[in-house]
Amino acid sequence: MPTVLVTGGNGYIGSHTVISLFENGYDVVIADNLSNSKMEVQNRLEKITGKRFKFYNVDCCDTDALRKVFEENKIDSIIHFAGLKAVGESVRMPLEYYSNNIGSMISVCKLMTEFGVNKLVFSSSATVYGESEDVPFTEESPLGMCTNPYGWTKWMLEQILRDYAKATPEKKICLLRYFNPVGAHESGLIGEDPRGIPNNLFPYISKVAAGTLDCLTIFGDDYNTPDGTCIRDYIHVVDLAKGHVKAIEFLDKTEDPICLFNLGTGHGTSVKEAIKAFEKACGHEINHVIGPRRPGDIAVSFASTEKAEKLLGFKAEYGIDEMCSTCWKWQTMNPDGLKD
Ligand code: NAD
Ligand code: UD1
Repeated sequence: MPTVLVTGGNGYIGSHTVISLFENGYDVVIADNLSNSKMEVQNRLEKITGKRFKFYNVDCCDTDALRKVFEENKIDSIIHFAGLKAVGESVRMPLEYYSNNIGSMISVCKLMTEFGVNKLVFSSSATVYGESEDVPFTEESPLGMCTNPYGWTKWMLEQILRDYAKATPEKKICLLRYFNPVGAHESGLIGEDPRGIPNNLFPYISKVAAGTLDCLTIFGDDYNTPDGTCIRDYIHVVDLAKGHVKAIEFLDKTEDPICLFNLGTGHGTSVKEAIKAFEKACGHEINHVIGPRRPGDIAVSFASTEKAEKLLGFKAEYGIDEMCSTCWKWQTMNPDGLKD
């Protein structure tokens, strides 16, 4: 049973991916410093899978501390989720974002070299595409100027990994550009658990639906889209998790040192459509008002899924209704998130 090291495996996407890996016969070791997740996630994973995963509370930037994980386990491949991801926070704390996101990746790469681990999957983001009228975004679409330090860390890390792959052709590296991951596990036991007031649309809508927040502000309804609100490619986190298993399988057979895939559904949903879908899931209206545009937002973003379908055999199964219903189930079962 090959062992996958999942850094950031206690977080939102990581924890769902741990389940997919387990369901596909992989053994999993998790390294996470709990900076943006709670230890309770491990209990929930055990409830869902019946297995207690090996967990290291370690900062991936600390190469010496992380080395222990490599010494104690025979790691076959790595999925690197560990990173900070809040756009607004990255504007206020750029040095923390650059040092954490870039430092943790470099530390992982050094240990891959030291221990001869050859397969790596990296969490990138559609944010690297920047503004363009030319949608859907294909993997060949030009990269844009990022509007915040978080986006730049993804942009820079992609380049660092291209350089690392060039220098070490025995390594196989897969960059995955996620579109907008939402939803939760069907059990309602794990899901997105943001600190404080959420910035992203779905966590915000669910808090308004639950009555914890009063009102959702739609950031602009004067975009050049059919209903005037921004369009995004929301992808169910369980589909996204399955995409990582496909990526690991792909690395076993590819000859290329580096490969790149979009993970999205190929369908765009506007903010107004997302609200309607959520209202259907929760059974009541979501209080909302129209506000000004949010700086840095682009009008339309959705993925071309052709390459992932053809080469990874990946196709998202869930639609916006399942994204909303699982998000709502998670919210109602865990109204205050997880306890420490
Ligand atoms: P998350 O914050 O829920 O999970 C990240 C996990 O990494 C957390 O458990 C956190 O404690 C841990 N972590 C952070 N820095 C660490 C470090 N130095 N050492 C060890 N652990 C560390 O975020 P997520 O939504 O699951 O995102 C996972 C990855 O996917 C991130 O790299 C993120 O940038 C990327 N991504 C996320 C989205 C999204 O919308 N959620 C979109 C595109 C890309
Ligand atoms: C955001 C990040 C992006 C990151 C992605 C991860 C910004 C500018 N971009 O993308 O870097 O990779 O999350 O999923 O933060 N909206 C509202 N009201 C709200 C919240 C959001 O109208 O209270 C709208 C936004 O204007 C946007 C859409 O909902 O049009 C989705 O927003 P969000 O969930 O924050 O995702 P992105 O902006 O696409």
